[in-house]
Amino acid sequence: MARVSVFRGLFVALGSLAVSFMLSTFGATTVHGQDLPDGPGKDIVLKVCTPCHGVSEFSAKRLTRAEWDEKVDNMAARGARASDEEFDLIVKYLAKNFGKE
Ligand code: HEC
Repeated sequence: MARVSVFRGLFVALGSLAVSFMLSTFGATTVHGQDLPDGPGKDIVLKVCTPCHGVSEFSAKRLTRAEWDEKVDNMAARGARASDEEFDLIVKYLAKNFGKE
């Protein structure tokens, strides 16, 4: 009987290893959206600002509203596409969540 419980223990250990592996793999693919705080404009930021790079490119920065305005202008010049209203919301979102005094 001892042999059976060893096998069972091994099986359970392997099983939980597989589950945590799947969780970490799945988690890595969704980390982009989870990095951003909720709020108006989040969806637009994800849509407009992540095709070329991850959110980490800007979520670690702390800029004033004027500086974000300039950055977003700069990204628009690089090819970021959105309407004026959307760019406006993006700047507001960034200034609110990644702003500095
Ligand atoms: C068309 C592609 C593209 C899109 C869309 C885009 N970016 Fe970028 N972004 C880049 C490239 C290329 C770089 C690296 C250029 C560099 O470091 O000089 C970059 C770098 C950055 C940087 C770091 C460099 C710096 O100047 O501080 C920030 C911040 C940034 N992007 C913010 C944004 C934001 C906010 C948006 C959404 C409005 C956005 N990006 C959308 C291409 C893009």
